[in-house]
Amino acid sequence: MTDKINELLRRVEEFKPKAAAEIEEFRIKILGKKGELNALMEDFKTVAPELKRELGQQLNRLKNEATTRINALREEWQNAAAENAASEDDLTRPGTAEHLGSRHPISLVKNQIVEVFSRLGYTVADGPEIEDDWHVFSALNFPPEHPARDMQDTFFIEKDPDILLRTHTSSIQVRTMERQKPPIRVICPGRVFRNEAISYRAHCIFHQIEGLYIDEGVSFADMKQSLLYFAKEIFGEQTRIRMRPSYFPFTEPSAEVDVSCNLCGGKGCPVCKGTGWLEIMGCGMVDPNVLKANDIDPEKYSGFAFGMGIERVAMLKYGVKDLRLYFENDVRFLHQFDEAL
Ligand code: DAH
Repeated sequence: MTDKINELLRRVEEFKPKAAAEIEEFRIKILGKKGELNALMEDFKTVAPELKRELGQQLNRLKNEATTRINALREEWQNAAAENAASEDDLTRPGTAEHLGSRHPISLVKNQIVEVFSRLGYTVADGPEIEDDWHVFSALNFPPEHPARDMQDTFFIEKDPDILLRTHTSSIQVRTMERQKPPIRVICPGRVFRNEAISYRAHCIFHQIEGLYIDEGVSFADMKQSLLYFAKEIFGEQTRIRMRPSYFPFTEPSAEVDVSCNLCGGKGCPVCKGTGWLEIMGCGMVDPNVLKANDIDPEKYSGFAFGMGIERVAMLKYGVKDLRLYFENDVRFLHQFDEAL
């Protein structure tokens, strides 16, 4: 009889229903009036009196275990059914909103800048990221010993002939002059590469946007007015600009453009380091040597060019203090620009 009890105990323990109805079936089979437990109870009546105590305890244990297990299984199945009903079948439940992706802040700012210049008649031009020495340096009037050509700045892919990752989007100026004769009016966004240690203010990959305007009679005043228009459109109507003399191999004269600090209105604050001005881009009149290198007659044509870092403009526009945030693609950062669309 002990064997039979143990066998039943094992079946109770191992019972795994595949449907809720199986639990009830199992209960009737084991605990029901004509079930296996009652059959054992009948046998129990006839066992020798000295075995009754021991077997009685075993039977009680079997009854308790079977009842507990069946109740537990019932509850488990009821909960699962309730959950299913709630998650799949209840069509009146409110839906969960899918989060839509948003534009990256660098794309947002790039598109805004392109849009502003397209209103002035500029079209977008493109060029390769893997370039040669001619398009990045030589055609732009860089002397052979210029430090920008150095291994420390430029990622070289091959030496002799030099194949390299472009260090600035000015190379697209050269590509454009090869394709097109004046009048030229292009805006050229793109990725650039420099061998720099990564920090909050520098990265080895970043974005620039370049502008080039060549026609008869283009003057420095034209450049100043165009850049003032750009600054007002991007940073607000009250924005002013100033130009400081500078040097670039490909422009003469060259200037550095500052915009009035849009945080303090020019009074001086930590962002503009108390000066009231923020450096935003380089510009200048295209050097006659550059025009000549690209078969454009400098006696007939003149032009201006400018170049700026898109990360820098985005930092100033959105108050982002660490450049690395643009490259990490942390959604907590990116979602902050949802509204800016
Ligand atoms: N290429 C320069 C740089 O990477 C930026 C620049 C300065 C572009 C002056 C220009 C320019 O077209 O006229 O720092």
